[in-house]
Amino acid sequence: MVETVDLMSTAFYGDIDGMHETLRELRQQGPVCRDDVNGIWGVLTHADVIDVERRDQVFCNGQGYRFVGAPGEQDTIALDGDDHAEQRKLVSRRFTPRAVNDLQPVIAKVLDELVDAFLDTGEIDLVNDLAAPLPAKMTAFLLGFPEEQWLLIKTASERLMRTDEVGRDPIATGQFMEAIMEFSSVLAPILRDARTDPKDDLVGIWAQSELKGCPMEDGHIMQETGLFISGGAETTRTTIARGLLSFADHNDQWDAMAADASLIPGAVEEVLRWVTPLNNFFRTATQDSHIAGTPVKVGDKVCLLYPSANRDETVFADPYTFDIRRSPNPQVAFGFGAHFCLGAPLARQELRMLFAKLAPRITNLRVIEPADIEPNVFVGAVRSARLGFDLR
Ligand code: HEM
Repeated sequence: MVETVDLMSTAFYGDIDGMHETLRELRQQGPVCRDDVNGIWGVLTHADVIDVERRDQVFCNGQGYRFVGAPGEQDTIALDGDDHAEQRKLVSRRFTPRAVNDLQPVIAKVLDELVDAFLDTGEIDLVNDLAAPLPAKMTAFLLGFPEEQWLLIKTASERLMRTDEVGRDPIATGQFMEAIMEFSSVLAPILRDARTDPKDDLVGIWAQSELKGCPMEDGHIMQETGLFISGGAETTRTTIARGLLSFADHNDQWDAMAADASLIPGAVEEVLRWVTPLNNFFRTATQDSHIAGTPVKVGDKVCLLYPSANRDETVFADPYTFDIRRSPNPQVAFGFGAHFCLGAPLARQELRMLFAKLAPRITNLRVIEPADIEPNVFVGAVRSARLGFDLR
């Protein structure tokens, strides 16, 4: 019996196995849990995460999609209703499966460079050689930042994803503010040029866009850029790093994927389910309501626990078994509904191309240095890990 749970504790999320065990016990106790430390509701089941996300007028983002709301925030994820739809639509065509398909040559070039650099060494410094640079370089490309700024995007994403520590941990707070200043100073000249001579990238689109008939102001575009930096890099990085570590425990499935490329899309879905890089998003109740019969009051904070939903035993048979052949696999690592991850097709494309490139070339994946997991409320990030392998 779990007596208390603290859904804002970095230690809770930092111990991934312990977190899953607690979430499993909590699900046995009911679909919704109460965190009395912070006064939050935790939504544990697959069906109820979807139910809350679907009722987006009752459970809104605008009054707080993290535990602490940021009044006046204007990036897409902080908006609701028509405002949200209008802003999301400005760039959504850049993330359709077709648009992302057209990015294949760009992804392939980045992948070739990264993989060539470590292939002959028999080892991967998982984060620095592969998991971090791939999505950070793709985010730079999409935004219209120079490629060499990928390291800024990597480190800014790391710091921005510690958003829940702002105001609680002075070091994380300072680093969060520094990250904003650093990426804003790179963005400023790009945005200035894009006002008169827009390039075919996200900053170019925003610089020329209107919302409700008014141009997007610099501060507004700065916030939106921050969302894409934080969302685009750290999430995919975590999935790649922890995904490859999972294959080191399941080399038979890695080899099966190498022998039969048709297994790759399913493998990507299972890695997303298994890793579930984002631990949660929050919603704020706009009126008194219920979740799975539990009364919720206006103003209450609701925590959507994606790792729990993705281990829900009523939806996934043997949820604690990693199985790339799992079908169907309705994983919710990208969320659901109006705010469903805009970058999901891109993340999937990066993961598919990575597995398609690596699996036929390397085998016998083994952990040389286990993952150092960052205790972080938002993302189950890997600080470092080292894998060994043999060439096929
Ligand atoms: C494995 C990688 C990724 C995961 C697991 C992930 C997960 C998520 C989740 C859970 C949400 C919130 C969904 C909800 O509230 O229902 C979200 C939103 C979002 N993500 Fe991702 N994400 C990933 C990659 C990306 C990438 C590569 C980009 C862009 C380059 C991106 C951009 C966004 C944006 C802009 C939103 C806000 C959408 C909205 O509010 O309408 N994400 N993501």
